[in-house]
Amino acid sequence: MCGIVGYVGNKKAIDVLISGLKNLEYRGYDSSGVALIDTNSIEIIKSVGKIKNLEDKLKDKNLDKFNIGLAHTRWATHGEASLVNAHPHTIGNIVIVHNGIIENAKELKNELINEGIEFNSETDTEVVAALINKYLENDIIKTISKVMNTIKGSYALGIMVKGINDKLYVAKKDSPLVIGIGEDENFFASDICAINMYTNKFVFLDDYDIAEISKNSVNYYSNGNKVDKKVDTIDIDLNSKSKNGYPHYMLKEINEEPTVLEKTLKPYLEDFSSIPDLTNYDEIHIVACGSAMYAGMIGKNLFEEKANIKSTCEVASEYRYKNNIYTNKTLVILISQSGETADTIAALKKAKELGQDTLAIVNVKTSTIARLADKVVFIEAGEEIAVATTKAYILQVAVISLLALKLAYNKKLIDNIDTYLEEFKTIPKLVKNVIDRENDYKKIAKEIKDNENVFFIGRRYDYAMCLEGSLKLKEVSYIHSEAYPSGELKHGTISLIDKGIPVFCILTDDELYEKSISNIVEVESRGAKTIIISKKSLKQNRKLEICVDDVSQFVIPLLVVPVLQLIAYHTAVDRGCDVDKPKNLAKSVTVE
Ligand code: AGP
Repeated sequence: MCGIVGYVGNKKAIDVLISGLKNLEYRGYDSSGVALIDTNSIEIIKSVGKIKNLEDKLKDKNLDKFNIGLAHTRWATHGEASLVNAHPHTIGNIVIVHNGIIENAKELKNELINEGIEFNSETDTEVVAALINKYLENDIIKTISKVMNTIKGSYALGIMVKGINDKLYVAKKDSPLVIGIGEDENFFASDICAINMYTNKFVFLDDYDIAEISKNSVNYYSNGNKVDKKVDTIDIDLNSKSKNGYPHYMLKEINEEPTVLEKTLKPYLEDFSSIPDLTNYDEIHIVACGSAMYAGMIGKNLFEEKANIKSTCEVASEYRYKNNIYTNKTLVILISQSGETADTIAALKKAKELGQDTLAIVNVKTSTIARLADKVVFIEAGEEIAVATTKAYILQVAVISLLALKLAYNKKLIDNIDTYLEEFKTIPKLVKNVIDRENDYKKIAKEIKDNENVFFIGRRYDYAMCLEGSLKLKEVSYIHSEAYPSGELKHGTISLIDKGIPVFCILTDDELYEKSISNIVEVESRGAKTIIISKKSLKQNRKLEICVDDVSQFVIPLLVVPVLQLIAYHTAVDRGCDVDKPKNLAKSVTVE
């Protein structure tokens, strides 16, 4: 998942490109580069590592004369994170930036090498540049169309042609690409956050679209034919860019959880009928990736336990390729903060192709998943900048819990709905109380920060929370951690439990209290340093214990997981990690 951005207008293109790259850095930061063109020349500057390294390289260059350019920040897929693999790539008259994966790049490259073409990098992108250069003719749109019919895979391409110094070209399939419409200037980017400080008018390209961008116009083509496209006006809260005094976006966004919970829950708690009714379905498939999938695991437990409907929860990268069995009343629920996760998009498309109803739980309203799903329930997290999701995960859990509550109520499996709705209304305050006990979590972070292996154990809902707690810890602190169903540990993994190994034990399920206690004792008898996270009513009085309010299964994850998020955060800070941009990660995985 890389980020691309381009500009044609009267401003200093380098300023627009660098600010765009900084806002796209969440999509990858292995390397970055810019290409600028005017009547006489093309300047290309690239660097390895974060955008700051590129800015350092630009300091002694005077690039103010350029008003057209394109840029790229990379998350390495083909070829290591090196200068030679950094975009933009140039072959002949073509300069190109790319987000996506060209699946037939290897065979195409071999054919081109046999034709005498020389390549510098290991990237698939350079192969696309070579093809465009090979097929280049006066009609650039025709050239690009021909290349699109040749390559397979996903791409958002930004293309500059030597000798054409007043236009840029873009082409899209599967990877996100948006056009920004300005006054005597136009833009393209992987995400509107790269350009929304310059315009609030956007055109979201569809698969197989090409656009020809000059400063006074943008022409769109679909399958080679000129087409008109709808312009959306979208005003963004630019406040999200500020850390508001917090040291990291991750901490800021955790502290936003009470507010965004209030904002997301309010319309549904004021009008319970506005929550989608799922009584027409007899089976639910929940499909997502990473934390979104772990939010789905909470939902799976609730749908099955409370609404008595068969439910599965699978990672999208598996679901999209397997033979999924549907009844004629299956609902496929897709969960995605970005709405651009390639595997989740593919799972959504597959479900739709097979005639299944789809419902998406999404944060980014302009995203591909939000536009493709039959029904969408938006979370109101605002822009989430830290790569490790926190507030969006909490809202995904809150929304899927409301869907399960509504279904259980409509199926007359619960009757005291007002009690539950009142409980949901208290959650923002209870979450604030949890977050405010930050010093307790700092102490626990100190207890685990020097360990290289940590375990999380729990049963049912608690296991689902363990999955998210474990992912949060490992992705920001680089401590290896595993989540295990408590009852499963003794089937092998308990061999790894040794003196001083931290084991987080989540213990909120009244029905499984005794069983969970015996699992805790099992690991403690082997020397584990247990950290208990339980409800006040199940207090264990252990040295390392965090107790949260005694609330129902519908909302207990909303109190437990912020504890785990803050422990992960402080552990990462103690270990000197780059909390907001952990190594090897990106915010939105737009490649499979
Ligand atoms: C979680 O902290 C990660 N950033 C990652 O697992 C993320 O949840 C996953 O990639 C799914 O992203 P999405 O919600 O945008 O689809």
